Amino acid sequence: GAPVEVNISKVEPGQLIRVEWRGKPVWVVRRTEEILENLATLDDQLRDPASVEEQQPVYAQNAGRSINPEFFIAVGLCTHLGCSPTYLPDTFGEQVEGVPSGFFCPCHGSKFDMAGRVFQGVPAPLNLVVPPHQYIDDRNVLIG
Ligand code: FES
Repeated sequence: GAPVEVNISKVEPGQLIRVEWRGKPVWVVRRTEEILENLATLDDQLRDPASVEEQQPVYAQNAGRSINPEFFIAVGLCTHLGCSPTYLPDTFGEQVEGVPSGFFCPCHGSKFDMAGRVFQGVPAPLNLVVPPHQYIDDRNVLIG
């Protein structure tokens, strides 16, 4: 499939937009400073906090799993059996105490933080996949 260009300049803080790439949903989420600070506190609750598993490009092998910490870009499919997790920008704390926002898979209950890192004790084995992508400039990202 062809790469997909996404204009990220109108994504609001906390907002998630969806695009399609190779028939898959790809998410672009704009993270606030608060969200990034929360991510830094979660390591001992996560299966692969440093993203050492090989399902992502090297530029996603950091705490925010991103090139630009403000924007999280991921394939929106659960790494268990491929359902699309639900973005819970305000109510994720009902799933994981002290974590205000994240992604919850309705199929078998897998939970992911705002960097798509999987929590322990759920069926999904791996963090959400970060697709190959690059910034064309500060407003546009090329996925694929
Ligand atoms: Fe997401 Fe099973 S497909 S938990």
